[in-house]
Amino acid sequence: MESARITVFDTTLRDGEQSPGCSMNVEEKLRMARQLDRLGVDVIEAGFPIASDGDFEAVQAIAASVRRPIIAGLARAKREDIERAWQALRHAARPRIHVFLATSDIHLQYKLKVSRQQCVEQARDAVRLAKSLGPDVEFSPEDATRTDPEFLFEVLQAVVDAGAATLNIPDTVGFTTPEEFKTLILAIRQRVRGIENVTISAHCHNDLGLAVANTMAAVAAGARQVECTINGIGERAGNASLEEIVMAIRVRPERYPYATGIATEQLFPASQLLTEITGVPVQPNKAIIGRNAFAHEAGIHQDGMLKNPLTYEIMMPQSVGVPDSRLVLGKHSGRHALGLRCEKLGYAFDRRELDEVYRRFVVLADKIKNVEDHHLLQLIRETTDQAVRMPPAHVETIPLAIAASANAAANSRPPGAKPFPVPRPPERKDAKLPLHPMAEHHYEEDYLWGV
Ligand code: KIV
Ligand code: ZN
Repeated sequence: MESARITVFDTTLRDGEQSPGCSMNVEEKLRMARQLDRLGVDVIEAGFPIASDGDFEAVQAIAASVRRPIIAGLARAKREDIERAWQALRHAARPRIHVFLATSDIHLQYKLKVSRQQCVEQARDAVRLAKSLGPDVEFSPEDATRTDPEFLFEVLQAVVDAGAATLNIPDTVGFTTPEEFKTLILAIRQRVRGIENVTISAHCHNDLGLAVANTMAAVAAGARQVECTINGIGERAGNASLEEIVMAIRVRPERYPYATGIATEQLFPASQLLTEITGVPVQPNKAIIGRNAFAHEAGIHQDGMLKNPLTYEIMMPQSVGVPDSRLVLGKHSGRHALGLRCEKLGYAFDRRELDEVYRRFVVLADKIKNVEDHHLLQLIRETTDQAVRMPPAHVETIPLAIAASANAAANSRPPGAKPFPVPRPPERKDAKLPLHPMAEHHYEEDYLWGV
């Protein structure tokens, strides 16, 4: 059976740009839009044309030069917003006007100061106007997840009847939970007439760290568009992260049997470009594209990685455009990784020498966070002059040993170079695991010093 296709609606240039420090000029937005095009997103929300002349120009420039995806422009449910959005979008190959109006009582009472009845009418009239300008109209009831559901159904019915083709359900303040959001989407599907001809969309903010989980729950309930941003940037704690949604679908197809048009190897380049443009760094432990997402420091993990990357990685770094996994040499690292890094630098040691290098390495790593190659070279010089310096030609052919196994490196060792690591004795292959990892330490379990 064919997987349901999920429309990826990227709002990095609109909701993402609204986050502190992330504003972009026209040229920067264009560069980013071109990368989003390469990434394969279905919709680029290019900006909020009434917000500023710069935003208007950016939407216009993107509409003129990025022709494959749908280009959306945001508008409040007001004539001047909608007309301005259309002016910016009208030369797009596939323009979309995205109209929004808050529907929760707290927004109606304190922000908009309108009644529920006025809200329904304003939403309906705005969608009618947008529809008279362009064929593709999306409507968002802002703060939907804090709106009385009965009133939400009423507003949604009015805008579907007025011609909205996409109903986006925003969790504007990141308040909902996966179960609750799923129930809401299911209820919308039951209560809004004609919904089968409309695409339901999820737009989740991350105030409780649930944006991606809530988005996936909405998809499970029948939403077929996801609104998200590169690096998860967006108002306050951000929007649902595009890379996390896409890779959850790719890595767990049995749980998420959906398809997207995303070229996943463009995820990391997109993330890098956004960081370069905005100057806003990504948290190191950010899933998929953070600096540490494919980095391993713990000796146990490095040892596993060197034997088979599947031990500690659920996706290949290359599948998201990250060049390779990294084994970071720090105080938690083991001899296995250290030995291989020494080999990469051109030095092969026997066990006794490596023990000594490792002992000094641990002392150094306790003082400095990351041991870089130049530190290691210095340490090797201080430790031994006995080390076999491998010929430079060979050094180049030794992989970091992430993709290639340690055994492959051992097999390609030139004559004269001392073997490391010591190959695992064949008789231990089927040995039972010790009850406690420390209870039966063997020489090849080289990840902890001194046990
Ligand atoms: O979070 C939100 O409610 C929005 C709407 C404008 C869709 O960004
Ligand atoms: Zn938003």
